[in-house]
Amino acid sequence: MLKNRSLIDPSDFSRQEFCEIFDLAHQIIANPEKYRKSCEGKILATLFYEPSTRTRFSFEAAMLRLGGKVVGFSEPSSSSAAKGESIADTVRTVECYADIVVMRHPKEGAPRVASRYVSIPLINAGDGGHQHPTQTLTDILTIQRLKGSVENKTYGFCGDLKFGRTVHSLIKFLSNHEGVKFYLISPEELRIPDYIREEIIIKNNIPFEEVEKMEPYMGELDFLYMTRVQRERFFNEEDYVRLKDRFILDAAKMKFASPSTYILHPLPRVNEISIEVDNDPRAQYFNQAKNGMFVRMALILKLLGIY
Ligand code: CP
Repeated sequence: MLKNRSLIDPSDFSRQEFCEIFDLAHQIIANPEKYRKSCEGKILATLFYEPSTRTRFSFEAAMLRLGGKVVGFSEPSSSSAAKGESIADTVRTVECYADIVVMRHPKEGAPRVASRYVSIPLINAGDGGHQHPTQTLTDILTIQRLKGSVENKTYGFCGDLKFGRTVHSLIKFLSNHEGVKFYLISPEELRIPDYIREEIIIKNNIPFEEVEKMEPYMGELDFLYMTRVQRERFFNEEDYVRLKDRFILDAAKMKFASPSTYILHPLPRVNEISIEVDNDPRAQYFNQAKNGMFVRMALILKLLGIY
C-alpha cells in the first residue's frame, strides 16, 4: 500500500510496490485522457532549494495533467528560508496548504529529516550528492520501454560517479535485480563512493568492473548511462576544469557501441555528449526526460491513494 508514504530513497519501496508504479505509468502513457481529472481538488507543493528544469517541471506538469494544482518555489531566496526558517517549520507550514510535497535540497538527508515532520507524502527530488529516486523511476521506465525489463542486462555508468546522485539511486535499484552487470567508467578521483561499492554492489554479488576508458566496453553494453561532472559539488574549480571533459561521447565513439546499446543521460548535459549524437536512434535521453513526467504522474496517484 503506497498511500500516504514518502519516497526518499530507492530502498523505501519494495520491488512489488515499484512494479505497481511502473504498471500504472505504462497505462497512463497508453491512455492519458483517462487520468485527466484524477487529481482534481489536490495540490502539489514543489520546494526547490537547488536549480532544476526536468524534475520540477515534470512534477508540475504531471500534477497539472492529472487535473490538480501546484504551488511552490524554485529559488529559496523567494521563500522564508531566506529569513532563516528551518526546513521543519517550512514543511509543517506547507502541509497546511498542500496534499503532497516534493523537495530538492543541497544537503544530503534534508528530505528525510523533513519527511519526519509531516503526515502528507514527501518526495525526495535530489539531496546533494546522495540520492535522486524519482530520476531512477524515470530511468527504469525508459529501460522497460526500450528493452522490456531491467534484468539480465549490462549497464555502463560513465562520468562523475562520485557526486552523481542519479547513478547512486539507479545502482541501488538495479542491484536488487537478477543478471545485471556494471561497468563503472570514471577517472580515479570520481569513482563511486565506497558505501555504494561495498554495501550495495558487492553485498548483492553484482559483477562489476571499475575502468577508466569507455571504448573497450561499449560493445557489451545494453545501456550506457552518461553523466555530467557535477561542478557544484567540487571543492575547487581547478579539479573541476581538469576532469570535466575526460569523457565526451561523440559520433566517432558511438561506432564502438553495438546497434542495440542505448544511451541514457539524466540531463542536464554540458560537454559529455556531443550534439551530433542526438539524432542517433540509440540516443534516448530526451525520451527519458519525457518518461519522467509519466512516471511522476503514476507516483503522485499512488502516494495520494487515488489508484
Ligand atoms: N535530471 C534532473 O534531475 O534534471 P534537473 O536538475 O533539471 O531537474
